[in-house]
Amino acid sequence: MAGFPVGRPRRLRATPALRRLVAGTRLHPADLVLPVFVREGLREPRPVASLPGVLQHTRRSVVALAREAVAAGVGGIMVFGVPERRDATGSGLDDPSGVLNVALADLADAVGDDTVLMADLCLDEFTDHGHCGVLDGAGRVDNDATLERYAAGALAQAAAGAHLLGTSGMMDGQVGVVRRALDGHGRTDVGVLAYAAKYASAYYGPFRDAVESTLQGDRATYQQDPADARGALVELAHDLAEGADVVMVKPALPYLDVLRRVADASPVPVAAYQVSGEYAMVHAAAGNGWLDGDRAMLESLLAIRRAGADVVLTYAALDVARALDVTGPQAGPSQVSG
Ligand code: PBG
Repeated sequence: MAGFPVGRPRRLRATPALRRLVAGTRLHPADLVLPVFVREGLREPRPVASLPGVLQHTRRSVVALAREAVAAGVGGIMVFGVPERRDATGSGLDDPSGVLNVALADLADAVGDDTVLMADLCLDEFTDHGHCGVLDGAGRVDNDATLERYAAGALAQAAAGAHLLGTSGMMDGQVGVVRRALDGHGRTDVGVLAYAAKYASAYYGPFRDAVESTLQGDRATYQQDPADARGALVELAHDLAEGADVVMVKPALPYLDVLRRVADASPVPVAAYQVSGEYAMVHAAAGNGWLDGDRAMLESLLAIRRAGADVVLTYAALDVARALDVTGPQAGPSQVSG
């Protein structure tokens, strides 16, 4: 019968060139941020068992990795420090000779002009109890006492050369306190990447391996409840009012609805963090031969971009940047269609 079916959407799927033209969402190395771990006192880089392909780095090896990321066009680097010793107040955070600040200074020297250097501004890697804050006499995280620690950490990270500070602790007022501390010390140039919506997630599991941290209790009183979508908009409003330059949603794939709502409401760029557990799941399934890991990774990252993320933090940033030949004929999301 002529003229039936009336619509033939398959027409635009017929060739890679057509699919590429109408894709609507693209992955580009410049949108990706590589999280890296620097371990104090390490002689050789050491694999993180639950994060295949991810290493705990030495001061020297993290600089080499950063250079590779820059060469591959990766948009930024988020630096985490793993200290040898921890204490109740997380004094390594603002100690200029603390592992994170030393690594930031090394990286600022080596690649600071060529990439965006981000620092995790949080206490959990540095506290012996593993919480993102200091505790009061009753063992509860003390919000306002913690803010003073973040202000001190912010100044140390700015001095070390970070461009964007990732306020990931989920304390009330953290963005404002950090902004005021920076401005009060003439560091109006340093920005805040606010973890606006950070959920109390099981998907952070492998990260604890990577930073060798054990948590006493849980983070449910400060990170968001996975059942609460609306709360993300409250966090967003506060972070914007307090001066956030970029806002983040984390984890990413299990929270695409939250990401979409935040992206629709945010006047500032939105980042999403494909966290350790998301990355580990893809690798675990691929390692068993249960799915095509490369395709699944690209599809996840595309989904995160499609849901509204301008920037994506992923442990796969370097691999993906290399796989995306952004100048070649197969550039773009057509790579995930198999
Ligand atoms: C806090 C922080 C965490 C992650 C990033 N920043 C841990 C947590 O909040 O429990 C997790 C990232 C990941 O799982 O990849 N410093």
